[in-house]
Amino acid sequence: MQPIIKVSQLSKIYQSGHKALEDINLEINDGEILALLGPNGAGKTTLISIICGIVSASEGSVTIAGYDNVEGYRQTRELIGLVPQELTLGAFDTVWNTVNFSRGLFGKKPDPAYLEQLLKDLSLFDKKDSELRELSGGMKRRVLIAKALSHEPSILFLDEPTAGVDVELRKDMWKLVSRLNQSGVTIILTTHYIEEAEEIADRVGIISGGELLLVDSKRDLMRDLGKKHLILDLKQAASYLPDSLSDYDLLLSEDGMQLTYTYSTQADRTGITALLQSLNGAGLSLKDLHTSQSSLEEIFVKLVRSKV
Ligand SMILES: Nc1ncnc2c1ncn2[C@@H]1O[C@H](COP(=O)(O)OP(=O)(O)O)[C@@H](O)[C@H]1O
Ligand SMILES: [Mg+2]
Repeated sequence: MQPIIKVSQLSKIYQSGHKALEDINLEINDGEILALLGPNGAGKTTLISIICGIVSASEGSVTIAGYDNVEGYRQTRELIGLVPQELTLGAFDTVWNTVNFSRGLFGKKPDPAYLEQLLKDLSLFDKKDSELRELSGGMKRRVLIAKALSHEPSILFLDEPTAGVDVELRKDMWKLVSRLNQSGVTIILTTHYIEEAEEIADRVGIISGGELLLVDSKRDLMRDLGKKHLILDLKQAASYLPDSLSDYDLLLSEDGMQLTYTYSTQADRTGITALLQSLNGAGLSLKDLHTSQSSLEEIFVKLVRSKV
């Protein structure tokens, strides 16, 4: 895949003196879904605001489809739709007028058929004549998405699209994002919900304290940083771990009924065969066994913790 966005050596120091971003380098591929995952205050909104050209960088540059986002602002802005974190809508406009007006701002010819389909896709069409103040929070969020898509951008930024949204709407939102992506739209979303990144992203960037700690495909991230656990249920309680097992990364549960063996998913050998033999030799017999893999959440917590 080709990078459609290139962020180079980007830093941001706000006027208050606060350093919100430090030396961010990032390439975003055409057609992918990238999740920027990080705790509150990590710098996610700052980063996408700079990419979208609404906050200026202190250092570094951003190009979008080859255009510099400062010098080529008109070109880059047209390619981008941004759904902001905060609900920023008037009260008395109708849904239709809001979205239609937004399209006009980008100098696009009116296209009622496109807007109609867009509102239908967002389950908003039957509300097209409603005033915004009449809508629920979830619907307002959909209007923001419709606005961001009104000028048919090829890249969509969603800043915390599901913060404060109920589970049902969150699932709807994920479906919508994946449908948009299938139609060719590159998606960048920020989130502090690990579940969200795990569910929909192709790649995940982890950002904390203004630094991009890593960017990797979700699968590789899980594989490289992931540990697997083999959980062994014993037939009889063991009161201690025999010395013959001291070479293994083993943990005995408090009730003595369960052993947890941790191994890397990257290693050539898991050591499981040898472990089972050693257990046998130590006179421990098994009732059952199963494995579990560490989630993105464990990986995330470990990374962010190791940084502070
Ligand atoms: N306009 C601003 N002036 C000064 N500091 C700001 C401004 N906007 C954000 N910050 C600070 O920059 C840091 C990153 O903020 P933000 O990008 O909003 O993080 P996130 O979106 O990950 O929660 C935070 O410490 C925040 O308080
Ligand atoms: Mg934010």
